[in-house]
Amino acid sequence: MTAFPLPPGSTIGIIGGGQLGRMLALAAARLGFDVVTLEPEPDSPAGRVASRAIVGDYDDPQALQALSEACDVITYEFENVPAAAVTTLARLGASVAPGARALAVAQDRVDEKTFLNAHGAPTVAFAGADSPKSAAEAVAALGAPALMKTRREGYDGKGQRWVEHAADAAGVFEALGSVPVILEAPADFTRELSVIAARGRDGETAVYPLAENHHENGVLRRTLAPARASKALAEKAEAIAVRILGGLDYVGVMGIELFELRGGRLLVNEIAPRVHNSGHWTQDGCGVDQFEQHIRAVAGWPLGPTVAVARVEMLNLLGDEAEAWARHAHEPETRLHLYGKREIKAGRKMGHVNRVRPL
Ligand SMILES: Nc1ncnc2c1ncn2[C@@H]1O[C@H](COP(=O)(O)OP(=O)(O)O)[C@@H](O)[C@H]1O
Ligand SMILES: [Mg+2]
Repeated sequence: MTAFPLPPGSTIGIIGGGQLGRMLALAAARLGFDVVTLEPEPDSPAGRVASRAIVGDYDDPQALQALSEACDVITYEFENVPAAAVTTLARLGASVAPGARALAVAQDRVDEKTFLNAHGAPTVAFAGADSPKSAAEAVAALGAPALMKTRREGYDGKGQRWVEHAADAAGVFEALGSVPVILEAPADFTRELSVIAARGRDGETAVYPLAENHHENGVLRRTLAPARASKALAEKAEAIAVRILGGLDYVGVMGIELFELRGGRLLVNEIAPRVHNSGHWTQDGCGVDQFEQHIRAVAGWPLGPTVAVARVEMLNLLGDEAEAWARHAHEPETRLHLYGKREIKAGRKMGHVNRVRPL
């Protein structure tokens, strides 16, 4: 059994080798930890800044054994870690945070919304379906239009389509691959917001100010934070976050996506049991950013302050936009964060900039 708090010099494992893993590894290194990554791609963004990169599939028993032997605690940068990997790590006696329950809930959109509603975090009305017939029945019950999403493995708006009429439900079900789906009532939102929250091993929680998010083609484009928000709205979001993290006995940072409805009502869209793109503003807007906060939480350290010290506009650099790095480097108010990805692909998240202004 690992004893917490982990002293500096301990080793933290990260499953996943992308940009979130890279920024977690950099934050861990700053606190004196060593990092070992597990990622199937050689030469990954996270692996290149870690002290050791294990190259292997996420559920490869030998790779998991090597990871578990090397690390005092293991975390992850994406929520689709295979359940088999979590079971194997548990059998090896590894300490994994956030825990298996949070992963399971976040991996399945029906389980997720069921959990949220049971814990005082309201969502849109929804229904699960696993056949063309039940999909049509779900749309009839919810009313059209309804949004059909695969229950598992969607991201960046992939794996979801609007059903305009109940009669279209069977066709959309087949177009999404004839896999189990969720149908959701439309959220008539005025803004998309998110809240990044952390919970430590002692149950202490720390919640960052609300962020306002703008998407393009299902991908986050821009975050403004702290978002313009009344005290009442901020308190409502914080209360929701504390209930969700407490309900999962959560350890680590979580991203909670919200819809703000007219009149200030908040619905939870989805939760991510990890650091989140809409929390990148904290790197230059807060004393302790979401990456350090996550490392602190999983290492059993005290959580850091979450107050904003600046106002930030975060812009994702997608595809060849990252080629403008030299221009961004000239802008005095701009902090540039590049992920070291070897290959530019259209729409790929290559980096982001934080434009920093006084509060
Ligand atoms: N029920 C809904 N009503 C209206 N818009 C929605 C609904 N669900 C999702 N969206 C829109 O689609 C985007 C992506 O959906 P989301 O469930 O967050 O999937 P992903 O896992 O791809 O991020 C949301 O940010 C929001 O803009
Ligand atoms: Mg989302």
